[in-house]
Order: sequence, then structure tokens, then C-alpha cells
Amino acid sequence: MTTNENGKYTGKVAFVTGAANGIGRATAIAFAREGAHVVVADISEQGNQETVRTIEELGGQAIAVRCDVTRTEDVKAALDKTIEAFGRLDYAFNNAGIEPRKPAPTAEYEEEEWNRIVDTNLRGVFLCMKYEIPLILKQGGGAIVNTSSGAGIIGIKNSPAYTAAKHGVIGLTKSAALDYAAQNISINAVCPGYIDTPMMDRFTGGTDEGRAKVIAEEPIGRMGKPEEIASAVLWLCSDAAAFVVGHALVIDGGQTV
Ligand code: NAI
Repeated sequence: MTTNENGKYTGKVAFVTGAANGIGRATAIAFAREGAHVVVADISEQGNQETVRTIEELGGQAIAVRCDVTRTEDVKAALDKTIEAFGRLDYAFNNAGIEPRKPAPTAEYEEEEWNRIVDTNLRGVFLCMKYEIPLILKQGGGAIVNTSSGAGIIGIKNSPAYTAAKHGVIGLTKSAALDYAAQNISINAVCPGYIDTPMMDRFTGGTDEGRAKVIAEEPIGRMGKPEEIASAVLWLCSDAAAFVVGHALVIDGGQTV
């Protein structure tokens, strides 16, 4: 399959964070397949290159930008490079995120771990939107999708920081959506269930037993595929979803139903 010269997003530019792996990579590729020029932004330079190579093999156009979403100067520089390379910004998928390293009940939760998780998973989304929005406004509108989680909908035991950050992403998404609804920027969130990515491999230990435990929590009887989140992100960015404002779209095989 090659990229589509007459794709839904031909002539458009998509900025994707956390695009070196998993959900971000699948979404970067999905945008490229639909003709968008893609900015692959991640702290993993090697992973960035691999995503770009895949897109180029499909006949698409992408650039790799090393970007730590917790660093203002990185975010600004990555967006400067976006404009330099492609001249505009239409869509942003603010997806970079990290999983907790040390599960613990709230009173025993380490401050440092709290800061690390909230800094990337919530403040990183804020920083990206802060600098993306003016660029999207400049050319008349577009769409932003932020990655929350099932942990943005329900509580997760022993995971106060991740749960709070992902709930925070939904609040931030709603607030920003109201700020810019009248200016033609649609801002929504996705809430994935268990998705088969490198993050999930770390979570399960990559063992059959670990994977089976996770799958047992999924009413649908399997993990989701990164492409199943990517297709929802593309839909939220499409004209078909133009009346969807500040929504948190749960894509989780029934996990939180
Ligand atoms: P992943 O670990 O496979 O990929 C995440 C990417 O984000 C990596 O390439 C990593 O280098 C990058 N990243 C981490 N910190 C960064 C930073 N400070 N700046 C820029 N890039 C950074 O993870 P996956 O599974 O693809 O997750 C993507 C998002 O989806 C995350 O926000 C995660 O919390 C969320 N999510 C994932 C679920 C799953 O089951 N895999 C479930 C629900 C939410």
C-alpha cells in the first residue's frame, strides 16, 4: 500500500508527539497514508528515524524532530521546524506519555515519581497546545487530539499520578476546546484501553502470563492495536467530526464500561 496523493489530508500537516513508537507511530503513519506531511516528534531519535523511514517507504513525507515535551524550548523548536519544513500546521496529536515506574498507594507515592509523570503526561500536553494553537489559528483552523487513557475515566489503584494526569488531560482538553471552538479548532481526547505497544510490553513484562492477565481485563478478549487508536484520531481530525467538541473518546474494548 502506498500513500494517497488524493488522500483526505493531502496538503495538510500533522505534528505527532510520542511518534517513535506504539500509538504515536501508528498515527503518524496513518496521517501519511492519507497524504499529510508529518512531523515525527519524540525523545527517541532512533525511533523517530524508523517512523520516518516507514513513511518514506510508503511514498509519504515526514521529518524527524527530537523533542522532549516537558521542555518549552524543545516544543517551540520542533514547531519552528514544522513551519520551516512544511509551512503550516493543521493537526496535532499530543500523545507522548510515560507509564509509572513504581506503583504505590497515594500516601506512599514518591513526590519525584509524581512530578515525572505529571510533567510529561499533563504539562507536556499543555505546553504542546500552548505553542501549536497560535500556528493552527494562523491558517484558519484545524484539529488537536490529546491522549488520555482509561485512567482518565476511572481510578486506578496504586497509580495516583498517572490517573490524575490522564484525568487532567480530559479537563485540559475540554477547557481548551471551549476556548477555541468558535475559531475553528476542534480539540478532543482519546482514551485508549490496553493497546499492544512497547509501553504495554514493559507493563506486562512481555510474558504470555503478563499479557493474559491484561487481556482478562478486556471484555473484548484481546488487546487493542495501535492502528485502532490511529483511526479514531484521524476521524476526530476530519470534517466528519467537525461538531465534536471537547469529547473524550473511549476506545477500550469495553474495559471501562
Ligand atoms: P510507548 O511507550 O510505546 O510510546 C510512547 C512514546 O512517547 C515513546 O516513543 C517515548 O519515547 C515517547 N516519549 C516519552 N516521553 C516523552 C517526552 N518527554 N517527550 C517526547 N516523547 C516522549 O507508549 P504507547 O503505548 O504508544 O502510549 C502512547 C500514549 O498512549 C501515552 O500517552 C500513554 O500514556 C497512552 N496510553 C497507552 C495505553 C496502552 O495500553 N498502550 C493505554 C492508555 C493510554
